Order: sequence, then structure tokens, then C-alpha cells
Amino acid sequence: MNYPDNVLIVDVSPRDGLQNEKQNVPTDIKRELIAGLIDAGVKKLEVTSFVSPKWVPQMGDNAALMQALNDAKRHSNVCYSVLVPNMRGFESAVAYSPDEVVIFGSASEAFSQKNINCSIDESIERFAPVAAAAKAAGIKVRGVISCTVGCPYEGEISPDKVAYVTKRLVDIGAEHIGIADTIGVGTPVKIQNALKAAFDYIDIADISGHFHDTYGQAVANTLAALELGIRQFDTSTAGLGGCPYAKGATGNVATEDVVYMLHGMGIHTGIDLDKLSLVGQRISDHLGRKNGSKVATALLNR
Ligand code: HMG
Ligand code: MG
Repeated sequence: MNYPDNVLIVDVSPRDGLQNEKQNVPTDIKRELIAGLIDAGVKKLEVTSFVSPKWVPQMGDNAALMQALNDAKRHSNVCYSVLVPNMRGFESAVAYSPDEVVIFGSASEAFSQKNINCSIDESIERFAPVAAAAKAAGIKVRGVISCTVGCPYEGEISPDKVAYVTKRLVDIGAEHIGIADTIGVGTPVKIQNALKAAFDYIDIADISGHFHDTYGQAVANTLAALELGIRQFDTSTAGLGGCPYAKGATGNVATEDVVYMLHGMGIHTGIDLDKLSLVGQRISDHLGRKNGSKVATALLNR
């Protein structure tokens, strides 16, 4: 097996993690989490989303958070990404100069309706001007596809649905495609098939995995993706995460657990696992949650 020397970790805990908490997390705590992640060596992160505060009130401080990050001076070697569902979101986000916008579609028609209130084809129509405007402003465009192996409403999803949405997103200008297992039902071969569905439309170097860990398969799925040649993964400190419109889905695979596996295989991430474990524990304590990372728990109990 030809494993890479380096893997890029995208920590999504400030966005995917905190969007799913019942309590609204104060902007200052989010800023602290982001600063901690960066201090631990994270080079790319999803900081917030510019979605409707009626739909996801947890991200309602998006502008204030971006302003606070800008005021504190952003790190030039760190990519700050934000989710944007439409032009309204883009126009709000662009004022704060994100490095990347994430347009987020779905391989499942039912999930698209529940999550962003439109069909898959309508979502592409909404994303197209966002991608064009982002490019014109020199902002990177990443597409993420939810429910690429299973959907809470439709059940199993076939790879040709993933291929269709990948092609549509690439056609409108997505430079990178994330393949997401939103409800964490995937197993290694199914995940590989979902990833392979994108191969005809975009270079493998521009495909990433985003695996929720609901059924405890996400580390195995990460390894399966790595063996296929995937080199970028969305992960979440302390295993925080979930989507308010995907009932029952738990957090993303814990960043600490993926980093431990990668470092154990001699693959570099640039992340200091001890520092990161403390960051994950701090936010877990704030939320009154048990740390969702087995590795962090083990390290902190040493
Ligand atoms: P809609 O109601 O169909 O939108 O929502 P609309 O265009 O009809 O507008 C309705 C109202 O919302 C209007 O306000 C708009 O101004 C406002 P009103 O006139 O009623 O006062 N509005 C907005 N406000 C702020 N920011 C905006 C915005 N757009 C409209 N961008 C919409 C459509 C997409 C906005 C809505 O469905 C929404 O916000 N959904 C949230 C979806 C979400 O954030 N889900 C979680 C993230 S995705 C995820 O977690 C999956 C992922 O992790 C990968 C995986 O695991 O699968 C990425
Ligand atoms: Mg997610």
C-alpha cells in the first residue's frame, strides 16, 4: 500500500460541531476554540456558516465571529472556510473575506428538501452564482455532497446519484468535492464506491472525505478512503457534530482519533495531538459533554 507522507485535516468542529448543540455557544468560546485548533497546528477549518438564523440559530453569530477573527488578525497560513447556501449567504460572508466558501448539496432529493428547502437541481441553480461570485472575488469554492451512502429519509443512496451531483457541482465551478456520510451509516467498501463515483469528474487530489461516526465506522472509513488515494479529511475535535436536519446522526469522526491513526502510520498532519486533546476537552467541558474522542480520553487519562 502506498500511503502518503502528508494528509490535510480540515477541522469542522466550530461549524459542524457547534451547529448541532442545543445551547448557543457564545462567540468568545467559538473564537477560543478556533484559536486553540490553530495553535495545535490545524491549517484549515470551517469556522461558521452563513445560513438562515431561523433554520440554524447556533450559527446566528456568523458575522460577529468573523469580525472577531478578523480583528484578532487571521493567520495567513490557515484557510478559514465558511458554508454558504445561496447568494444571500455569500453577500453576508464576503464582507469578512473568507478564504473559501463551501456550497453544500445532497445526493438525496429528500435530504436536500429538508436541509436547504429545495430540490437538488434547484440547489445547483442557487450555487452557480455563488461559485461565480466567489471566483471573481478570489475565494476558493468547495462543494460538499451530503448523504452519499445513506439518507435518513430515503435509505441507501446509489453511487450514480453521487456522480450526478459531483458533475453538476464541478460544472458550475466547484474546485474540490467533499463526499459526506452525513448519518455515519457507511462501511469501507460503500464509502470507497461513493468516492469512486466522483473520480470521473474531478482529480482525486481534490476529493475529500467527511464521515460522521454514528455507527462507529468512521476511522475504518477514513482508512478505506486513504487506501483509495484520498488525502484530505473533514474531522471534528472531540467528535462534535451532526446536522439538525439529519435526526439521530452523531458527531464527525474525532480529529484526535484520525490524527492518532495517521501519525501511527508515519503520515504527517502538522497537528500536536496533546495540544489538540486539551482543546477538545475544553470545549467538551464547556458543553457539559463527555469527550467524543477515544484517543483524547486515553491521552488525558495517562
Ligand atoms: P428558505 O426559507 O427556503 O429561503 O431557506 P428563502 O430564500 O425563501 O428565504 C427565507 C428567509 O430566510 C428570508 O428572510 C431570507 O432573507 C432568509 P425573511 O424574509 O423571512 O426574514 N435567508 C437567509 N438569512 C440569512 N442567511 C442566508 C439566508 N437565506 C435566506 N443565507 C435556506 C433556504 C438554505 C436559507 C435554509 O434552508 C437554511 O438556512 N438551511 C440551513 C441548512 C444548514 O445549515 N444545515 C446544516 C449544514 S449542512 C451539514 O451539516 C452537512 C455537512 O456537514 C456535510 C454532511 O455531513 O453531510 C456539510
Ligand atoms: Mg457533517
